[in-house]
Amino acid sequence: MEKAPIHNRTDILVIGSGASGLFFALKTAQKRPDLKILIMTKSNADESNTRFAQGGIAVVTDNNKISFDKHIEDTINAGGGLCKKNVVEMVVHQAPDRLKELLEFNVEFDKKSSGDWDLGLEGGHTQHRILHHKDISGSEILKKLLIQLQRMPNITLVEEHIIFDLIIHNSRCIGAYYYHNESKKIESIQARMTLLCTGGSGQIFKHTTNPVIATGDGVAIAHRAGAEIKEIKYVQFHPTALFEKDKNPYFLISEAVRGFGAYIVNNKNERFLFETDSRGELATRDIVSRAIGAEMEKQHCEYVFIDCRHLDYEKFYQHFPTITDYCRSIGIDIRKDLIPIVPVAHYQCGGIKVDMDSQTSIPNLFAVGECSRTGLHGNNRLASNSLLEALVYAHQSSEYICDKIDSVSFLDPNESEGIFSNYQYNITLNYSEELRNFKALMQETMTALFIKNTNPVEAKSVIEEILSKITPLFQKDTISLQLKELQNMLAVAELMVKEFLENNIKARAQQ
Ligand code: SIN
Repeated sequence: MEKAPIHNRTDILVIGSGASGLFFALKTAQKRPDLKILIMTKSNADESNTRFAQGGIAVVTDNNKISFDKHIEDTINAGGGLCKKNVVEMVVHQAPDRLKELLEFNVEFDKKSSGDWDLGLEGGHTQHRILHHKDISGSEILKKLLIQLQRMPNITLVEEHIIFDLIIHNSRCIGAYYYHNESKKIESIQARMTLLCTGGSGQIFKHTTNPVIATGDGVAIAHRAGAEIKEIKYVQFHPTALFEKDKNPYFLISEAVRGFGAYIVNNKNERFLFETDSRGELATRDIVSRAIGAEMEKQHCEYVFIDCRHLDYEKFYQHFPTITDYCRSIGIDIRKDLIPIVPVAHYQCGGIKVDMDSQTSIPNLFAVGECSRTGLHGNNRLASNSLLEALVYAHQSSEYICDKIDSVSFLDPNESEGIFSNYQYNITLNYSEELRNFKALMQETMTALFIKNTNPVEAKSVIEEILSKITPLFQKDTISLQLKELQNMLAVAELMVKEFLENNIKARAQQ
């Protein structure tokens, strides 16, 4: 991406460049060419959780009432009684319109030779309804949206600029502090509306499918600004990440592979999932992950396997070239070899609480995509509903903001005196051994809490101990970006632990 100058004010600030941020920006820029939109992203434009989404996007494509009802029912059944029905209905019914827009942006999904959509199946789905682009659906969406973006003169995208905190004035969000990678200073930008599209927090855990930038920044900065966070402890573990001991992130073996007919087997080559659920490999992710965890414990193994050896190789390769090639690159021939897999942290189902227009509890602050909690996913997201949620809520917030932004003004220069100069740090990129060790301890602790059900009281004391050690570092003149990132991860970890503890108190009260 070309470098663009950053002005100290923009009508709309979008933080993050995954599907939610880009789709929002494009729709809004088309509708309101008079508005300036700035997308600020932490890494490269195409580095986000969206890029790693292999499976695809769940959409009813036959316009049949029964199909819509079944998609709604499957989403609610996966969500463990915590989904909001009105939200689920809105998202499922809007899906065909959002798909149409994606197609207008030249996003391509696979078709059969008949010309019909080649719809995939994944765990928890009772019908084939997943549109996919081979096994790189997220990457295809990003690529095409980024091309469209270049055509919009009122959108500026800046890479490698990290948001430090939101600026709140008179209880409203009026912009953000960010690390300017040229001045190497923290600077401020004023915005009439701000949208957090910062993705998930998988890096809080030892192993994850999320990229290294997924450090829960949006949730942490929204929480520091006073926004309500909800259901953050519902972290979805993906049952089939490729086991490679010290890899970060873990490579995903898409759930669509099981939908295609692959088996999960233990070290004795036995299928064991039917002992837990009659759907076997096609049960929802929470059930499959737990069953794999229990089997690993029973067999004293670090992983189980996914078996593709019985599948039609030609067809498999057509659908999953990236997975097949990656396996081959590390010496696994899927025609002959079993693929070692393990459940790892994959998706944050809760987050910044938003309403149906994606508004947070802070006026003029919005959250879209994985960092938000809309009520769609409950405690366990149905596979391939995340890209759909991102598009629908990008649409909802875009409509709302286009309608309301004219009533929001920038601060008067007299009024803004002193408001935008809070941060005086110098920034270094040095990643000290001490910070690395704190991060590893946090990851170990949070992984044990989620996987081994260790006592949340112990996790609380470890997280608090690390926080007490890093807090004084913020008093120095120079801080590192990694310190800020660690502070964000710890803030999210602390929120998760707090929900675990509240849950335990509730459970005891009900006994
Ligand atoms: C997958 O392909 O299994 C991941 C996509 C998703 O998380 O929905």
